[in-house]
Amino acid sequence: MNEHLPQHIAIIMDGNGRWASKRGISRLKGHAEGAETVRRTCEEMLKLGIPYLTLYAFSTENWKRAQEEVSGLFGLMKTYFRKELSNLLKQNIRVRFIGDHSPTSRLEPEILALMQEVTQKTAACTALTATFAINYGGQDEITRAVQSLAQQITVGQLKPHEITPDIISGALDTAGTPPPDLIIRTSGEQRLSNFLLWQAAYAELYFADVSWPDFQATHLQAALSAYTTRQRRFGAVPSTTAA
Ligand code: IPE
Ligand code: IPE
Ligand code: MG
Repeated sequence: MNEHLPQHIAIIMDGNGRWASKRGISRLKGHAEGAETVRRTCEEMLKLGIPYLTLYAFSTENWKRAQEEVSGLFGLMKTYFRKELSNLLKQNIRVRFIGDHSPTSRLEPEILALMQEVTQKTAACTALTATFAINYGGQDEITRAVQSLAQQITVGQLKPHEITPDIISGALDTAGTPPPDLIIRTSGEQRLSNFLLWQAAYAELYFADVSWPDFQATHLQAALSAYTTRQRRFGAVPSTTAA
């Protein structure tokens, strides 16, 4: 383990649609190419020995897209996890999912069952924890956490003054996973788009001017080089410059 490397990288995989439009092919082909980048990126993470990767795959706002694109995206996700499961096990990759996956969510029972199967089958893997954010929104996640804490207060299991940042972290979908050290967004857009709002508090941000399907090991290396030059202060004054 290299202590100068981030332990948790989170990626906003953006630009699939524009990548495809530039080539005169369907947006869905861009997403299919994006799935290849996911495979490559997991391999790079294993090589680097970075233990946590979180990938933003479908936001709570992405339902606003054309029905054809939405169903195509979920079709690709199903194919990806069915085809990749044996590789993930071979590569010792534990898969987790974050987002609203309740039976009342808009996700189909088939994808919910597949996510559960992949989570269970890879639960004992230890080389990399790959978390996929599906039907995920930071505001939605915080809202659901507040609802569950309010419920605990109602039944007398929790008192309002007992709520701390740690209690809130533990009520989020990401409970048990350290916060991201580095958040990378591809495609040139410079915004979080509702990704890991609570967890991003002290993450370093890196914006890559490349579409997700074109994101290669060299781009990841560039993000890591930038990260190593950053001075993370967490609000403190570094000891070397303290007066
Ligand atoms: C990211 O690529 C994938 C998802 C949001 C599902 P986009 O589909 O947002 O691609 P652009 O931003 O339109 O190019
Ligand atoms: C963010 O990308 C969501 C994912 C990568 C899954 P979007 O393309 O949906 O974000 P906006 O609309 O450009 O902010
Ligand atoms: Mg986009």
